Amino acid sequence: MSFDIVQAFRDQDWLKETEQKLDRKMRYAAGKAKQVSWIPYTTENRQWKENRIGWWTNGFWPAHMWQMYRMTGDELYREEAIRTEEMLDEALRDFRNLSHDVGFMWLIQSGVRYAMEKNRDSYDRTLYAAHMLASRFNPNGFIRAWNGEGREGWAIVDCMMNLPLLYWASEETGDPRFRQIAMQHADTTLRYFVRPDGSCNHIVIFDANTGEFLDNPGGQGYASGSAWSRGQSWALYGFVLSFLHTGEQRYLDAAKQTANYFISQITDDWIPRCDFRQPDEPALKDNAAGNVAACGLLELARLLPETEGGFYFSAAIRILRAQEASDANWELDDPAIFTRCTSAWHDLPGRHMTMTYGDYFFTEAVNKLRGDSLLFWYPNR
Ligand code: GLY
Repeated sequence: MSFDIVQAFRDQDWLKETEQKLDRKMRYAAGKAKQVSWIPYTTENRQWKENRIGWWTNGFWPAHMWQMYRMTGDELYREEAIRTEEMLDEALRDFRNLSHDVGFMWLIQSGVRYAMEKNRDSYDRTLYAAHMLASRFNPNGFIRAWNGEGREGWAIVDCMMNLPLLYWASEETGDPRFRQIAMQHADTTLRYFVRPDGSCNHIVIFDANTGEFLDNPGGQGYASGSAWSRGQSWALYGFVLSFLHTGEQRYLDAAKQTANYFISQITDDWIPRCDFRQPDEPALKDNAAGNVAACGLLELARLLPETEGGFYFSAAIRILRAQEASDANWELDDPAIFTRCTSAWHDLPGRHMTMTYGDYFFTEAVNKLRGDSLLFWYPNR
């Protein structure tokens, strides 16, 4: 029998209290967002701040609104999700400036809306995004991550979280090509990104013509050969999702391997460092890595028998509760919640900032514990 995370979570008081805190805070945050004509990314001087419309995080805001709608049933959240889904059409039109991150941008909001409401425009947006992602495939076996001359052969571990968009497209259309691309990329990630100890490279550079391995720079982590914690969390959750969509045992094994590494590297405070191989000072943390990993660990726990699942479940709960107790701002003086997210180890202004996606994954985890069965990364399940 597989592990039941809803039954296992016994602290109903914490869950109820957290739901109330989320509703109060996100109602305030949505009110602030409605005052502007762009999509929130982070906060500055306690106000929302944007990034460009094609920025990879912009799907998380409407997705967070859908998570809140599922938690509360309040139309306010649904309306804000739809308002910002429509804003993202500008990014679809400006497709040359989009990267591999179109799964983050459309599956978890347009794909989710289509699953719930059968809205045709939302279906078209999601399928269009899937076509764009498929078009980035290099037949040497990887999806090109970023644009720009010289980056034709760059692939990154984060892409594991965009593969569910391709699985979705095959499941919806019956055309296996999207899934075939996703699995080839996942297999390349297994081969070139996941190290024997379960840690991962952030970036791998291939020769775009031959597929030959060229380099693995440090990317958003501390250095080449280090272990950027958010990259670890993308790998862990991404392999869980590839297993869910394909049933291939090697993806479940990789999810466990990367999860074991993540858990083995957590310090006693249960809040992940930005990079598990960073120097002691500065003691950079990343709440976003923690919340992503917690979601992945909860889904992983569900796939395993009682004895094994309990291990991953306990780790997820420890991370969520530690981060909430230490770093969540529930006051209505800033629309963002988590205060110690880090964009990249070497990005000085991006250290210990707020991030809409750091907050998103916390709410996703809370909804899992409430028993909501809609997995935003597999909305058509
Ligand atoms: N590159 C996506 C991230 O910052 O996690």
